Amino acid sequence: MPDQPNHDVAVIILAAGQGSRMKSDLPKVLHKVGAVPMVGHALAAARSLDPARTIVVAGHGAELVMQAVGKLDPDVQIAHQAEQLGTGHAVAQALPMLSDFNGKVIVLYGDTPFISEDTLAQMIAHTADVVVLGFEAADPGRYGRLVTDENGDLARIVEFKDADEATRAIRLCNSGVMAASAGLLREFIGALGNDNASGEYYLTDIPGLARAAGHRAAVVTCDEAETLGVNSRVELAQAEAIFQARRRAEMLADGITLTAPDTVWFALDTHVGRDAVIGPNVIFGPGVTIESGAEVLGFCHLEGCHISSGATVGPFARLRPGAELGGNVHVGNFVEVKNSVLDEGVKVGHLTYLGDAHIGEHSNIGAGTITCNYDGVMKHRTEIGANAFIGSDTMLVAPVSVGDGAMTGSGSVITMDVPADALGLGRARQANKPGLAKRIMQALREQKKSRGKH
Ligand code: UD1
Ligand code: CA
Repeated sequence: MPDQPNHDVAVIILAAGQGSRMKSDLPKVLHKVGAVPMVGHALAAARSLDPARTIVVAGHGAELVMQAVGKLDPDVQIAHQAEQLGTGHAVAQALPMLSDFNGKVIVLYGDTPFISEDTLAQMIAHTADVVVLGFEAADPGRYGRLVTDENGDLARIVEFKDADEATRAIRLCNSGVMAASAGLLREFIGALGNDNASGEYYLTDIPGLARAAGHRAAVVTCDEAETLGVNSRVELAQAEAIFQARRRAEMLADGITLTAPDTVWFALDTHVGRDAVIGPNVIFGPGVTIESGAEVLGFCHLEGCHISSGATVGPFARLRPGAELGGNVHVGNFVEVKNSVLDEGVKVGHLTYLGDAHIGEHSNIGAGTITCNYDGVMKHRTEIGANAFIGSDTMLVAPVSVGDGAMTGSGSVITMDVPADALGLGRARQANKPGLAKRIMQALREQKKSRGKH
C-alpha cells in the first residue's frame, strides 16, 4: 500500500436507512458480521483503496453510528441525512464535504459487507464517466435493473417499482455501488427528481442523466455473493455464515491448521500466521493476532490479544484485550488474561486470573493464582520479575510486585512487595491437633444416631 493516500479517490458510504425489517433499536449498519459492525466492513473495503477521504452518511441512530464509526476509523467524516429521501438525496448530503475534491467518488452501502477489493479496484480503473457494479441475479426480485445498449454500455437503471414487464425480465441487476467523478456527481445530483413510484431521489437516475448529456456509463460485474445486502435477521445470519465460510477457507489456504473448521469463528481483522494450529470451537473477537506456529486448543475465547510463535493456549482459556503472550508462553485451561504482558517462556497452567500485570520471562504461575487488580473503584498493577515462582492459590493484592527469582508460598495473600530472590509468605501458620479429627467424627456419628431415634 502506498504511503500517500490516493488523492484521486473518495468514498461515500450510505448508512442512513432505518432497516425496519431488522426489528431492532440498533441502527442496521451496527449489527455485526465477523465481530465487527457491518459499516466496518464497508470501511475496510474503502480503506483498501487508500482514499483521500471517506464520508459515512448517517441518519437513523446517527449518534450511535457516529460513535461506532469514530472508533473504527477516526479519520472518517460523517454527513447527516435528517430525512431519508432516497439514495440520491443521501449522496447529496455528502457532496458539500467534497466541494474542493475533483477525483473519483465511489458510493458504497453500509449494509453490503462483501464487496471485494478487486471489484472496487476494477471500478476505479474503468475509463467510463459513470461505472455501476452489476451482477447476474439468480432471482432478480426487487433489485434495480441495468438496461444496456448494443455496445454493452449502461443506458439507464430502472428501479423495480418503476419497471415494465420487459425491463423486469432483465437479470442484470444493480448492486448499488457506483463510481463517478466528483464533478459529474455535482453536475447531476441537483437534477434528480422524485417523480417515481417511491417518491424518492434515486441515485440510480444519475447514469441515464449523464448519458443524455453525452457522458459514457458502463457496468462492471461481480459475483452475486459479493453484493449480498442485509435487510433482516435471517440475512444477517446468512451473511455471518458466508463470512465464516470464506475466512475458514482463506485460513486453510494460507497454511493454518483448523482441526474442525466449521466450529471456529473468526473476526474481520483476525491475523493468523502459517503453521499455527487452531483447535475446535475457538471464538475470535476483534483484534487478534496469532503468530506462526502458535497453538490454540479447543474452546478458547480470544479478543484484542497477541499470541507469539511457539505459544500454546487452552483448552478453555480466555484472552481479553491487552493480553500479550511472548514466545513459548503456555496458558492452560481455565486461565483468563486481561491487559497483561507475559514475557518469553512464562507458564500459567491452570485456573488463574491475570489482569493489569507484567510477568517476567520464564516465571511460573501456580494453579489458582489471582491478581486482585480491582479495589471496587480503581484498577492496580501487579509486577512479577523474571524466573519467579508464584505458589498455587496466591492472591496478589495489587498494586504489588514480586522481584526476579522470588517465590510466594502456596495460599499466600501477598499485600507487600516481595524483593528479588525472597520467599513471600502470607498465610496462617499450620497447627496439628493430635486425635482431634477422630473425636469429632465419633461425636458427629453419635449425634446422627440419637436424632434417628426421634
Ligand atoms: C437500492 C437501489 C437498487 C439496487 C439495490 C441494491 C436506488 C434507488 N435503488 O435499492 O437499484 O438494486 O439498492 O441493494 O438506489 N440509504 C440512505 N438514505 C436514504 C436511502 C437509503 O442512506 O435516504 C441507504 C440505506 O441505508 C442502504 C442503501 O442506501 O444502505 C440502499 O437503500 P435501500 O433503501 O435499501 O435501497 P433499495 O431499495 O434496496
Ligand atoms: Ca436494500
